[in-house]
Amino acid sequence: MVSQAGIDEIRRLAASFPRRESALLPALWVIQREEGYLPEESLRVVARELSMEPSDVTSRASFYTMFALRPRGQYVIQVCQSISCALVGAQQVIDHLRGRLGIEVGETTHDERFTLLTVECLASCGSGPVMQINEDYFEHLTVERVDEILDGLP
Ligand code: FES
Repeated sequence: MVSQAGIDEIRRLAASFPRRESALLPALWVIQREEGYLPEESLRVVARELSMEPSDVTSRASFYTMFALRPRGQYVIQVCQSISCALVGAQQVIDHLRGRLGIEVGETTHDERFTLLTVECLASCGSGPVMQINEDYFEHLTVERVDEILDGLP
């Protein structure tokens, strides 16, 4: 459940917009930052604070791939699969990660350490293949570099 500090932050955000519901996306970030994903009960809190219908909050949250409606791993790996990265080996990176982690795209490892996702353009098209792990970008990937990166995670 979202903390009182989180609720206070959502209230401050709502007050900073002419229409309370305009604070929806930053409010969802507050929840995801605190809880790692968007639990249903926290979406109801957002709806209440922004004077919105819960179904509107859920449907908008489900539209954006950067928001998670289910729990994810400690490290969320997002590999770009768009054309520029695809041309320079994104699929090899994805296949290597599937094999190394023992999961398919969209799944989380049993130890809840890694979630593997594919996404569209990460806006670093000249530096592919590209992946994002939580907030960090990794570019010019090779399978060897992917192993180095994963081995170096705390
Ligand atoms: S195509 Fe991969 S970052 Fe744009």
